[in-house]
Amino acid sequence: MSKFVIIKKKIEKFNKSIVVESDKSLSIRWALMASQALGISRAYNLLNSEDVNSTLNCLKKLGVKIKKTQKYCEIKGKGLNGYKYKKGLTLNAGNSGTLGRLILGLLIHSPFKIKLIGDQSLSKRDFSRITNPLKKFGAKFYPINHKKLPMQIVGSNHSKPIKYEEIKGSAQCKSSVMLAALNTNGKTFIKAKKSRDHTELLFKYLKIPIKIKKLQNYDYIEINGGKKFRSFNYNIPSDISSSAFFIVLTILSKNSKLVIRNVNTNPSRTGIIKILKLMGAKIKLKNKKIYKGEQIANIHVESSKNIKAINCPSKLNSGAIDEFLIIFLIAAKAKGVSYFKDLAELNQKESPRLKLGSKILNMMGIKTKLTNHSIKIYGQPNIQIDKKFEIKDFLKDHRIFMMSTIAALTFGGSWKIYNPESIHSSFPSFLKVINKLGGRIN
Ligand code: S3P
Repeated sequence: MSKFVIIKKKIEKFNKSIVVESDKSLSIRWALMASQALGISRAYNLLNSEDVNSTLNCLKKLGVKIKKTQKYCEIKGKGLNGYKYKKGLTLNAGNSGTLGRLILGLLIHSPFKIKLIGDQSLSKRDFSRITNPLKKFGAKFYPINHKKLPMQIVGSNHSKPIKYEEIKGSAQCKSSVMLAALNTNGKTFIKAKKSRDHTELLFKYLKIPIKIKKLQNYDYIEINGGKKFRSFNYNIPSDISSSAFFIVLTILSKNSKLVIRNVNTNPSRTGIIKILKLMGAKIKLKNKKIYKGEQIANIHVESSKNIKAINCPSKLNSGAIDEFLIIFLIAAKAKGVSYFKDLAELNQKESPRLKLGSKILNMMGIKTKLTNHSIKIYGQPNIQIDKKFEIKDFLKDHRIFMMSTIAALTFGGSWKIYNPESIHSSFPSFLKVINKLGGRIN
């Protein structure tokens, strides 16, 4: 793949039906859970991306047998606490915060030190948010009090169940603790600020003893750990976070319509749809069905002429946490000033997204007011760009690359966007789908 792409032309109107790639959160969770099950699990449509391949590679290093064909991926589970630990093992989580954090929860019984490393972006991200609760189970981390990768974990023979309060609304932290709880005899209690609930739904589907009480802002979760579970097959639906780029592309393009089929529209992930509807977008979910606890639907979206600014309710943040960059493009075209708040977590992602998102909007001529947890975006409904841009130095954040591409295809100007290879983390066929809709990218 070349070092950059050049986009000089807006996309023409389109009316199409597409499928985007599979859900990354579910693909990683399926693989981790399958490795802990008894028997052979099979996944169809497992996302074939770097983050998922890093997951499979880490599992292989832990002695898990994996078979991948064009049609499916099979994992021979080792049961709870069944990994083969070796001295001097290094696991590489690559670019994936989800993998890095969740897998630590599964290593709490390792008798040897296991080193966890990641790429340049992951090595800048906070891991104390997960080492702190895992220490309570009995794990130890080296260097002591080190907050970032690389780090080593050594487990304990007798992990103890814990009480844990998750206050950031991080599904990665909640899920990592849930996986440690699964491997620990006794009851672990979690009070978690709302976040995506794929792990809970999988636990329920697999009949792992779990009780959940949902209150307005928090969920109370009780897990009775140490209970074995059987292998399971899964047909992974498409990712709403990948769909998001095409939802926004359609809204911002003239006279266009799009159907995105078979998307995981789990209500804990549909923040973008709720936010964009409040801003006046025309989006509908059709053919809804439930698959193993997850809601799946086709997303129907049309161009919108009148986009309104929004004072975005913070309660919608966690359900749209990976979509804010692309939502900011809608705010750039809205009538009025949009305000997004309580978003400090956005600067904790693959890149500092609140900061970099604001910088890209400024380059486009959109005024913003930025703090370390909020952004005001001064929309320009008639925005037309004819400048030249270069987008680089964004820590190869896949979502920054895809946001910039959508901006180039809808606002005009001449864009040189670096690191197209970043899409391999989550959405390797992104540029092919753009091509299918008629976008011209060199
Ligand atoms: C994810 C949770 C979110 C999200 C990430 C995937 C998951 O992170 O940003 O891309 O699969 O659990 P946090 O849980 O840290 O908010």
